[in-house]
Amino acid sequence: MLASIKTNHLTNEGQKLGMMYFRVAIILFGAQLLLGLVAAIQFLAPGFLFEILDFSVARMVHINALVVWMLYAMIGASYWMLTDETGHEGVHIGLGKLAFWILTAAITVVVLVYLIVQVGSGTEASIWLIHEGREYIEAPRWADIGIVVVVLVFYWNMFATYMKGTQTGIMTVMIADLLALAGLYLTGMFFTDNISMDQFWWWWVIHLWVEATWEVFVGVLAAYALIKLIGAKREIVEMWLWIEVLMLFGSGVLGLGHHYFWIGTPEYWWEIGALFSALEPVPLVAMFVHVLYDWGKQQGAAKARGEEGSVIVNGPAMSWIVMNAFGNFLGAGIWGFFHTLPQVNIYTHGTQFTAAHGHLSFFGAYATILIGMMYIGVQGAYGVKRMKATFNSKMGVFLTAFGVMGMTIALTIAGYEQVLVERAELGAGWEAYFTAQNLPWYIQAQLWRAIMGVVTLAGFVYLAVDLLTIGKKAQAEEA
Ligand code: HEM
Ligand code: HEM
Ligand SMILES: [Fe+2]
Repeated sequence: MLASIKTNHLTNEGQKLGMMYFRVAIILFGAQLLLGLVAAIQFLAPGFLFEILDFSVARMVHINALVVWMLYAMIGASYWMLTDETGHEGVHIGLGKLAFWILTAAITVVVLVYLIVQVGSGTEASIWLIHEGREYIEAPRWADIGIVVVVLVFYWNMFATYMKGTQTGIMTVMIADLLALAGLYLTGMFFTDNISMDQFWWWWVIHLWVEATWEVFVGVLAAYALIKLIGAKREIVEMWLWIEVLMLFGSGVLGLGHHYFWIGTPEYWWEIGALFSALEPVPLVAMFVHVLYDWGKQQGAAKARGEEGSVIVNGPAMSWIVMNAFGNFLGAGIWGFFHTLPQVNIYTHGTQFTAAHGHLSFFGAYATILIGMMYIGVQGAYGVKRMKATFNSKMGVFLTAFGVMGMTIALTIAGYEQVLVERAELGAGWEAYFTAQNLPWYIQAQLWRAIMGVVTLAGFVYLAVDLLTIGKKAQAEEA
């Protein structure tokens, strides 16, 4: 992928910019995994890197890098699709490139500050200069404002190009969704010293991203990718896309209630949260069924015509995108539903169970399809017609998926032990917490999580090598 800077076939500035975003995304993904491993080792050996890279910092960088790389990959995918879908070369892409460099420089500074200034008191100045203390979106205020400006430039590129080009259904959903996605960031930007109020708004960003706007965004990517990869019919994927928009925005928005159970908001959230969040898996199942249904129908029709059926033009992208259908359903649908009813959540809240769901859902629903989009980008950058999976592609898919699934199972076991011992048996007090953490089931589960983390990292290495080399290989084969 890095080599594509020199050797790419892209003449289109929008897609070049998309590739720039993809490159930073994959680097941040690697950084995310390394810091996750540091945090995982600290669960086993609490003294590891103490006062050099404390758990609090490793964890913070781990999950903020996660959010940032995914946003980078989403912006990359948007720029990639923009010019293709609209058939227009892109309005003011030069400005978009400038915004890219500013954003990347700002993020580098923010991460360096996190690593250099690890402890100290939280003051007005630290909110402006160091971090905000808001899980997942810690960027200090100065960077927040910068992010808003950069996103406005990005949105202008998207919107203005959309208005001038062909307005497909896929693009219409994307443009509307991006507005909501970007707008929600603002709700996590103001400060209140009432912790309930702070959490109330903070969840608007996190929950309404991952369970509403990002999910719709993934629907857009899946629709586009299915057309590109297996020649899916536009009418069919677009119809499902609209149904998904309707359902996800419905269940996802009121599903917000499942985070309001214990933060001091009124009790009516119990009923609202329970009902609507329990409905959330429905569109996820629909998405899953639709991918398989479309595929089967097309293959059947092709066979009836006596043809071979659809040819997958990008093997690795297709495998990541099929994994997305499974991963989204399992991570968000099943692992989310597990703990979404207040009757269950009162026991599971804040145990490793949450972390199990967090890992499988973010990976399954987002990492997978975004990596799929990167492969589509690489294929385009090298101008190859058909890109087959290599050994590295297969190892990349297999080891990362196996590793994340393994971590999820380990964390689910740890969470189960916490629910039984810490919550049910000992009554959730201070001592109960430490007793549960020191029992063998918990420690062994944490050990397995660390081992599976190493497997995930190994998968990432194969993936990164593959992204760097597959284009050239496919090009050589085609020639
Ligand atoms: C791809 C979509 C999703 C992603 C990426 C995701 C991710 C996450 C993450 C990271 C957390 C932990 C937040 C924290 O640090 O406190 C969380 C919490 C939660 N998620 Fe999801 N989630 C998704 C979808 C769902 C769905 C569909 C449901 C319900 C069916 C669900 C139910 C929950 C619940 C109940 C909690 C709160 C757990 C607690 O603190 O007790 N999630 N989610
Ligand atoms: C090398 C592999 C990884 C390791 C060793 C690892 C380890 C960790 C650790 C130790 C934490 C802190 C948990 C806690 O506070 O109890 C964490 C949190 C988290 N990680 Fe990972 N991680 C890895 C990969 C990933 C991947 C691939 C994703 C998603 C794509 C991810 C998403 C998250 C999320 C969302 C949280 C916050 C969960 C919560 O608080 O509920 N991690 N990770
Ligand atoms: Fe949620």
